[in-house]
Order: sequence, then structure tokens, then C-alpha cells
Amino acid sequence: MKLEMRRLSFEWLMEIIQLCIERIIVVDRDGIVIYIDGAYCEFLGISFEEAIGRPVQAIIENTRMHIVARTGQKEIEHLHPINGSVMIANRYPIFIEGQLVGALGTVIYSDPDNVRAQKNKITNLCNALNLYKNKALNEGTCKYTFDDLVGDSYEFQVAKALGEKVARNDSSVLVTGETGTGKELFAHAIHHSSMRSDFPFVAINCASIPELLFETELFGYEDGAFTGAKKGGKLGLLKLANKGTIFLDEIGDMPLSVQSKLLRALQEKEIQPVAGQKSIPIDIRLIAATNRDLEKMVQEGTFRQDLFYRLNVISIEIPPLRKRKEDIEAISQYLLRKIERRFYKKGTMLSSEVVDKLQRHMWPGNIRELENVLERAINVLDGTVITLEHLPLYIKDQADHSIKQEPPINNASTNGTVQTIQPLKETLAQAEKRALVHALTVTSGDKLAAAKLLGIGKTSFYDKCKLYGVK
Ligand SMILES: Nc1ncnc2c1ncn2[C@@H]1O[C@H](COP(=O)(O)OP(=O)(O)OP(=O)(O)O)[C@@H](O)[C@H]1O
Ligand SMILES: [Mg+2]
Repeated sequence: MKLEMRRLSFEWLMEIIQLCIERIIVVDRDGIVIYIDGAYCEFLGISFEEAIGRPVQAIIENTRMHIVARTGQKEIEHLHPINGSVMIANRYPIFIEGQLVGALGTVIYSDPDNVRAQKNKITNLCNALNLYKNKALNEGTCKYTFDDLVGDSYEFQVAKALGEKVARNDSSVLVTGETGTGKELFAHAIHHSSMRSDFPFVAINCASIPELLFETELFGYEDGAFTGAKKGGKLGLLKLANKGTIFLDEIGDMPLSVQSKLLRALQEKEIQPVAGQKSIPIDIRLIAATNRDLEKMVQEGTFRQDLFYRLNVISIEIPPLRKRKEDIEAISQYLLRKIERRFYKKGTMLSSEVVDKLQRHMWPGNIRELENVLERAINVLDGTVITLEHLPLYIKDQADHSIKQEPPINNASTNGTVQTIQPLKETLAQAEKRALVHALTVTSGDKLAAAKLLGIGKTSFYDKCKLYGVK
């Protein structure tokens, strides 16, 4: 059945207008009020009779209805302050048979208490949302607490106690120690125990950022800073870490030019994005880490002295694993549980000979190396007990060397067997090759890390690998 179209009666139209959440006013081409609804009159504090026939400017402050009635240009979602409340106003020209005859104005308002209550509600929701956002961000980035730092040895306990103590103040912390000793873990734990733990923890590995990009990564850039720049600009990592902690790992690899800009930002507590006109205030805590000798770098002129002092307010040195051999068993247990989760295994144990061997090894790659050795063992393990056969050869060999005396360099040894003496060059070459292979094993084939471990440059490392046929 076809629906019959009916004309709406005047009463219906009036009722519909009253039910609308928006308040309505209509003016003619000269801006004279020809209609205004009752609730709007009430809000303005005048009667319907007083309003009708008057110029709109006389009854509504800041109005632009008379302008729209003359220009025919609509105005949408303008903020319009009336009687101390900010209203959202829409103004539409009215055309009848193509002729501009006047304008319709609508405003939305609530009573001020209601607006305030709604505003508070929204502010609280936004705060809660930010908190969860930061928590989610931290879960992805800040994973460790002091409870995850295993080790009861005196040296380690001293470092850990200092970390726990300084976590609560806001000073910069410099964490030093050999590769794989747990510098990054310490930084996580410090942030976690600090008052900033609800805010972001942003970690940057200074060795992995090309020099040309460093400045924009840290400080961000404004829209149109350079050709190819992202539209709308880019937030720098320092800004992302606002209210939280920024962790500058391998700070010794930060280019000198960036060091000066970072120092300025830390001193002035503000950053200036590349091509930016305005400075942005930032509130961050800085934790830096390095396995390089920054003091020596300062003397050599490759690290800024002023930045070094700024970073070195509190310095925590993490002892290498070989200086806390009594921790090796407990750390191994902790790492085994961690690795087991990835391999869906349970109850893996170490035989007493293995513990003994692990304690004899020098661990140049520290806990990371230990983790690699244990992961390899779990991989080749059938039962649940890790025995000597599951350890890599170099651990067994090196452990044995460390307790054995070097054989005398003599053709006839004490027990009468003949020792072969090779030319020194040959012996050195063999030692070099062994060191390359060892470093690569420790770093699981990571050539850059291996070169670092050996204290030689990348190019020299590659050259030596080629020379000795090390893959
Ligand atoms: N005290 C510890 N207890 C348990 N596991 C640890 C401990 N310290 C470090 N680890 C583990 O050792 C590995 C290396 O730690 P981390 O990355 O923090 O070392 P790092 O000092 O930053 O090394 P690098 O100088 O090479 O960057 C990580 O997998 C970490 O989980
Ligand atoms: Mg690290």
C-alpha cells in the first residue's frame, strides 16, 4: 500500500522544532528576527514578543546572522560565545524560488553544569586512555624489573642496589659494562621502579641509526622540512618519550654533531624540531649505556666532555660474568626457564660437570653468550639433563685450557713427547683465526658484534675472515 503524503500542520512543525536539541532563530534579509524558539528565548533571557521584529544583533551578542542573510554564504560549526557559554552555531541562508530571503541559525547548548560535568567526564576518560596507552607502550618496550636481574654475588648486588636506589630520583644514569652483561636490562628495571613507570620507555640504539638521520629521529621535523619529508612532520623520539625515560644505548656511537644538540636539549629541557619555528618543552629522564671507554673517548676528542659529565651523574658498572662465577648456575637456571618457554620444554637441568665447565669459561660475551650456549644445548637435547656433549666444543676446550698450564716451548717436553714449534707468524695466524671463530660463535654469527668483541673495525674483521677462510 502506498504511503499517503500529508502536509505537516503548523502545530506539528512547532512541536518538532521544540523537540530538536538545537535552538533555532530565523531572520529576514535585513537581519530582523522573524522566528525564535521558546527555549532559545529562555536562554537569552527575553520573551518571544520582545525578540520578534528586532535586529538580531540587539538580542544575540556576537551574532553573524545578519551577515549570512545578506551574503548567502553558509557558516557551519562556528564557535559562538553567548552569555558566557561557548555554543556551536550553524548559519544557513534561506532561498525561496531562487531568491535569498533570510537566514536560519541553529545553536547547540547545554546548561553550564551539564557542560562542565560532560567535560570532566571526557577529561577523565582521556586521562584513563592515556594511562592505558602508555602502559601498553611500556609493555612492548619496558619488559624487565629488578626481580629479573639474577645474581647474588657481592659485585652484582652492589650494582643492583645502586640501581634500585637511584631509580627513584630523576638523575641521568650511565650504565657501563662489557657486551652482554645486562646493561639494557638495568635500564628497563630503573625505569620500571621510577616514578615515570606509567609513561613511555623509549630505547634508541645509537649504533643503528645512520648519522644523516640521527637528528630527525631524535628531534623530529616540521611539515615540509625537506624534500620527501612526511606530510604533517614527524615526532622525534625525545618527544615520544615525554614524561618517561629515554634510553640511549651505545651512546659512544652518537655522532659529535648530535651530541651537542642533545646536550642543549637536556640543559634547556626543550627541543627544536628540524626546520621548526617553535621550541617544544620536554620532560625526560635519560639513561645511557655503553661498553666503550667514554673517558678515553673524551680525551681523544670523539666524545663531548660536557655531555659526558651530564650523563655521568650516576654511573653503574655491571661486572662481567667471569667476575661473578658464583652467579652462573642461578643465571643459567633463569635462562633455561626463559628458553624452555620458547621451545615448549620443561624441567631441563644441568649436570654437575656442565656447571663446572660453565664456571671455568671466561665468557667474553657474558650473559648473552651463556644464553646462546644454553639455547644450543636445549636444541640438541633429547632428555632433560644437559651434559658435556651438549656444550659447544670451544667451551670444553677453553675451559680445559684455563686450568691447564701452557706447555713449555721446547722440543722435548717433560714426559718425553716431541712438541712441534711453528714459526711465530704461523702461531699468531692460528690464534687469530681461533679468535675470529670464537667471537662468531659467541655472537651467533653476528659479524658486527664479533668485530666489536675483538675490538677491531668492521673492515679489518671482514679482511681477516677472508684471509683465514672464516665464513
Ligand atoms: N642479571 C641477569 N639475569 C638474567 N638475565 C640477564 C641478566 N643480565 C642480562 N641478562 C640477559 O642477557 C642478555 C643480554 O643482556 P643485555 O642486552 O641487557 O646486555 P647489554 O649489556 O645491553 O649488551 P650489549 O652491550 O651487547 O648491548 C639478555 O637476553 C638478557 O635477558
Ligand atoms: Mg645493549
